[in-house]
Amino acid sequence: MSHEKIMILEDDCLIQDWLEDRLARESYQVQAVSTGEEGLSRLSQDDFDLLLLDHRLPDTTGMQILKTLRNEGNDIPVIFMTAYSTIEDAVMAMKCGAYTYLNKPFNIEEMLVNIDHALETTQLRREVRLFRKNQREMFGFDRIVGQDEKMFALFEQVEKIVQHGANTILIQGESGTGKDLFAKAIHYAGSRADAPFMNITCSALASSLLESELFGYEKGAFTDAKGQKKGLLETANGGTVLLDEIGEMPPILQAKLLRFLEEKRFKRVGGAQDIQVDVQIIAATHRNLEEMVRKETFRQDLYYRLNVVPLNIPPLRERSEDIRQLTLSFIDRFNHELKRHVDGVTKEALTLLCNYHWPGNVRELKNVIERAFILGSHPKLQANDFPIEIRGPSPTSSNLESIYPLPAQGIDIACLENSLVHQALERTQGNQTRAAQLLGMTRDQIKYRLHKRKKKHNQEPKEIL
Ligand SMILES: Nc1ncnc2c1ncn2[C@@H]1O[C@H](COP(=O)(O)OP(=O)(O)OP(=O)(O)O)[C@@H](O)[C@H]1O
Ligand SMILES: [Mg+2]
Repeated sequence: MSHEKIMILEDDCLIQDWLEDRLARESYQVQAVSTGEEGLSRLSQDDFDLLLLDHRLPDTTGMQILKTLRNEGNDIPVIFMTAYSTIEDAVMAMKCGAYTYLNKPFNIEEMLVNIDHALETTQLRREVRLFRKNQREMFGFDRIVGQDEKMFALFEQVEKIVQHGANTILIQGESGTGKDLFAKAIHYAGSRADAPFMNITCSALASSLLESELFGYEKGAFTDAKGQKKGLLETANGGTVLLDEIGEMPPILQAKLLRFLEEKRFKRVGGAQDIQVDVQIIAATHRNLEEMVRKETFRQDLYYRLNVVPLNIPPLRERSEDIRQLTLSFIDRFNHELKRHVDGVTKEALTLLCNYHWPGNVRELKNVIERAFILGSHPKLQANDFPIEIRGPSPTSSNLESIYPLPAQGIDIACLENSLVHQALERTQGNQTRAAQLLGMTRDQIKYRLHKRKKKHNQEPKEIL
C-alpha cells in the first residue's frame, strides 16, 4: 500500500484528472494544481514525495519552477512532462536536477514505472542522508571522552587536521585506545562527511584479495573475475578510506599504496588505464612502524609518506583522569542501554580502576564496566564486581601461598621489595601517592625506601629505579 504524496502541476484539466484518478487508484495521495504560483506555495507548506511537472504553465514554465525549487534547497524528485519537447529542454531539465523526462502523450504504465523508480531513489537518498546524520552524531568528537592534558593536545592537533583537510593521516596507538573512533570523527567532522567512509583491515585478507578489494579489478584479471569491480578507493571517492592495521600490509601492496599516495592515481588489478580519485587516507596501527622500518618489515618511504600528519593516541594507563571520566560515561551509557540505575562507583573501586595498567585500554575498561553491570547488584559498582586482575589478590586471602609461592632457592626480600616499588612507580608514571596505594603503603613509606636506596647507591632515586 503506497501512501506517498504526489503533486501534479498541470494546467490541462483532462490530463490532470486522468492522472489524478489513476494515481489515486494506485493508492498514492494526490494533489493537483494548475498554476506555478499555487504549486510553489503548496510545496513550501507541505512535504511532497514527488512532483509531476508540466513544462508550459499559464504563469511560468516548468523549468523555472524546477530552478526555484532547487535554489530553495528543495530536492523533491521531479518528472517533467511536456508536449513541446526538444532535446535541449530535456538536457536542461536533467541538468536542473529533474529525475526524468516524459513526452506527451505518454503511456500511463510508463509513467507508473518512472514514479515507482523515482520514489525508490528518493527513499534511498533519504535513508543515506539519515544514516550519515546519525553517523555524524554517533562519531562526533564530543563522543570521545578525553579530559587528560595529553588528550587535549591531541584534540587540538585533530582540529587543525580537520580544518586543513589533510589527505593522509597516520593514527598510532595501542589496541583499544580509540583509533577507529578518531578516524571516523575526523571523517564526519570534515568536508568529506557527505561522501563515504570505508574501512578495510589489512591483516584480515590475503595479499591478492586485499589488492582487489582496495584497487578493484578488470574482467578476466583472474579466474573468478567475471566482471569489472570497483575497489574501495573508487567507491569512497570524495570520502575517506581507513586502512586499519597498516603494519600488516604486504610489501607488494605497500609499494602500490605509496604510488597511489604520491600520484593520486592507480590501476585496477588487470587494468591498463590509470584511475584518478580524491580520497583521504587514514592509516591506523597498534604496531610501532618506526621500529618495523628499522627491522625492514615496513617500507621506509611509505612510512615517511604516511607520517606527514601523525596522531599518537596515548595508552589509557597514562591518562588517569580519563579512566575516571570514561568509567562514569560508560556507567551512563550502560544505565541507558540496559535500563539500570547504577549510581556511580565506590571510591575504593575507582581507585582500583585508576591503578590498573589497562593493557586492552578503553575497550578493556568498557568491557570491565559492562561485566560489572551484569554481575553487580549494589547501587554503586564495587571492587568485587571487577575481575581478579584488577582487584588483585587480597593480602589476607587464604590462597596467597599458591599465588606467590616461595621459590625453592629462596628469595632476597629486599630485592623483591625494590622491584615491586619500581614496578608501582613505573605503572603510575612516578606518582608516589598512587604507587603507595598500589602497594598498600603510605607515601612516606615509599619515600623512605627511595631515600634508603639513594643513600646506598648515592644516586638519584629515579635513576636507580
Ligand atoms: N576516548 C574514548 N571515549 C569513548 N569511547 C572510547 C574512547 N576510546 C575508545 N573508546 C571505545 O573503546 C572501544 C575501542 O575503540 P577503537 O575500536 O576505536 O580502538 P582501536 O584503537 O581502533 O583498537 P584496535 O587497535 O583493537 O583496532 C570502542 O568501543 C570505542 O568506542
Ligand atoms: Mg581499530
